Amino acid sequence: MKISMMINNDIRQLEVDINEYLVDTLRNAGLLSVRRGCDTTSCGVCTVLLDGKPVPSCSVLTVTANNHSVTTIEGIQEEADKLSDFFGHEGADQCGFCNPALALTVYALKHELTNPTAAEIKHYLAGNLCRCTGYVAQERAICKYLGVES
Ligand code: FES
Ligand code: FES
Repeated sequence: MKISMMINNDIRQLEVDINEYLVDTLRNAGLLSVRRGCDTTSCGVCTVLLDGKPVPSCSVLTVTANNHSVTTIEGIQEEADKLSDFFGHEGADQCGFCNPALALTVYALKHELTNPTAAEIKHYLAGNLCRCTGYVAQERAICKYLGVES
């Protein structure tokens, strides 16, 4: 079926299967920053923003995003670069596989929570798993980016 979605501020008309998941639609559209990990709504690496809210695109049927707005990391590049600098300074850069999804979730958090505590940040990011190692450096970098105490 034909659907219309605003992807990174561009209106796109797409032909999709009725049972197609958003992760596939976006990757087929060339947005390869949208990763596939567990495919079971557990790891968060497929996270994109749907109308500004983080969702696991592996479990969102594309047809439900018809006439909605989807943001991937390409749509927030400037902000992602700023966050990436904090990751670099705090030694939080690892393989990078989870970074686009994590950056999108941090971006959503920044717009949703005013003056979040470190505990609230941790809670908000709980759905974004990193397979490389611990989260301490990531948390430190994110707190510095948000300007809150870690
Ligand atoms: S691939 Fe979607 S949550 Fe893991
Ligand atoms: S940095 Fe490798 S999975 Fe997170």
